[in-house]
Amino acid sequence: MGFLIAVDGPAASGKGTIAAKLARLYGYPALDSGLLYRAVGVRLLAEGGDLSDVAAATAVARTLDPAELEKPEVRTRAAGEAASRVAIHTPVRECLRDFQRAFAAQEPGAVIDGRDIATVIAPWAPAKLFVTASPEVRAERRWRQLTAQGEAVEYADILADIRIRDERDSGRSDSPMVRADDAVLLDTSEMTIDGAFDAARRIVEAAR
Ligand code: C5P
Repeated sequence: MGFLIAVDGPAASGKGTIAAKLARLYGYPALDSGLLYRAVGVRLLAEGGDLSDVAAATAVARTLDPAELEKPEVRTRAAGEAASRVAIHTPVRECLRDFQRAFAAQEPGAVIDGRDIATVIAPWAPAKLFVTASPEVRAERRWRQLTAQGEAVEYADILADIRIRDERDSGRSDSPMVRADDAVLLDTSEMTIDGAFDAARRIVEAAR
């Protein structure tokens, strides 16, 4: 097993940015595990499927192609919503588990961000962070990001999305979003990107 850095937390908490920066700093490959669920939701919808259809969602997850993670459609607001709806299905999660575990174990190390990396995918990870921020701050960040991508979205709608997604992700029975007992909590509400990265780096250094 390599030195895995597990970065969990809710939508738009800053975990993706922090994970990408840590990966660059240490020269490790990074996986944004949310993209896996987003890609499943996007293909299922494109095929005219229903997000609550477990068998159809599982069939998509089983045949997921890494190239699908690169498509711009997986970064939209609708994809985030679809992702959290297919992510409640246990067979979908099982299909995506082996890939994540293999990625996690590579030498000399890796960074994965998601919801259940430290709790389910790789509880053995030497470095675990749970990155969060207030719903209002996260909604503001997500609104800026989507607007910069050219999506016409209202702040109030994004805040409502975030609250619904938090509830769905932490309330589901399989692999709910929860801080692992030994994960270090990092609240980025009042932090700049540089400040949050610096704090994350110190937490990882302490685990090395
Ligand atoms: O991180 P991101 O917002 O892209 O994730 C989209 C959705 O995918 C989350 O709301 C969650 O439902 C699901 N997800 C998950 N487990 C992960 C990563 C994402 O259930 N490890």
